[in-house]
Amino acid sequence: MKILAIESSCDETAAAVVQDGREVISSVVASQVEEHKLYGGVVPEIASRRHAEAIVPVVQQALDDAGLSLDNINAAAVTYAPGLIGALLVGVNFAKGLSLSSGIPLVPTHHLRSHIASNYISNPDLKPPFLCLVVSGGHSHIVKVEDYTKMKIIGRTRDDAAGEAFDKAARTMGMSYPGGIELDKTAEDGNPLAFKLPRPVVHDSEYDFSFSGLKTAVINLIHNSQQKGIELNKADVCASFRYAVVDCLTTNFFKAAQDYGETRLVIAGGVSANSLLRKTLSEECKNRGYEFYMPDKSLCGDNAAMVGSQGYYEYLSGNIADLSLNAYATMSIE
Ligand code: KG4
Ligand code: ZN
Repeated sequence: MKILAIESSCDETAAAVVQDGREVISSVVASQVEEHKLYGGVVPEIASRRHAEAIVPVVQQALDDAGLSLDNINAAAVTYAPGLIGALLVGVNFAKGLSLSSGIPLVPTHHLRSHIASNYISNPDLKPPFLCLVVSGGHSHIVKVEDYTKMKIIGRTRDDAAGEAFDKAARTMGMSYPGGIELDKTAEDGNPLAFKLPRPVVHDSEYDFSFSGLKTAVINLIHNSQQKGIELNKADVCASFRYAVVDCLTTNFFKAAQDYGETRLVIAGGVSANSLLRKTLSEECKNRGYEFYMPDKSLCGDNAAMVGSQGYYEYLSGNIADLSLNAYATMSIE
């Protein structure tokens, strides 16, 4: 079964053709990030306009790259939640038009479920059940993936998402949006123990995260030294901050795994590209005798291939929408 997938939840307009949920036939991503960099973050109005301009050529390119026409496509999967509402509406309305004109079924797909599904592409043997740490620019969740379309949230952030904390810390150090990747690279040359940063805990939950205090601590460290005219070693600050975030993420993830008896662990979302997170989990899972899976780095950020993968399993479970389908800025992964 061939699915044409469409993604427009934030600042990437993407389309892909995916076979049976696992094989990517084509994948096109048009990023708007260079334009949003000028403003230090995503400007929703600009994002919607750029999606509207890019959607037709991006979808056409995905079909051309696959050497297919709409006649060869069995269903259209589209991200309908969560994300920027104006951005999501571009993809949803385009997919509805496509479904109406061609008669192919319309499959609504949840953005975070798609991030998890990026693992089905990178790891052909991986099947639920497993425990997944979903860490992106907007969300940080520990999710019990009971089946392809059955999930339960075990832990979540109470304030900032991990990606958001990375981006804000990076911005304070003069790195351009989204700074998570540059912070990660800079941290490679630093000492993670150079600065003592807090490990915020949430008192009424062992699995929930809180990153806002940690983010404020690193911002204060930078501002205080600037006021005193002290130059901090940037690589050391990045390494200490990265270590603190990864420590919080992995501590709660392993605690949840232990308590729920899960021995197959998976990561997903933009922050799953983080080098230290990948390395720490790979090593620690090996020590504990757990299975560990992660998406290829090229599939960690927003793309439509992952939507085509999750869309396949949504289709199989009977999740098919009619033309009344709407987009939603927020929606639980459950
Ligand atoms: O999943 P994603 O592409 O978009 C959302 O759905 O939010 O995640 C984007 C986030 C950004 O905050 C970005 O800085 C972060 O993922 N990110 C990273 C790395 N690569 C991307 N954060 C830390 N280390 C990285 N290597
Ligand atoms: Zn995303």
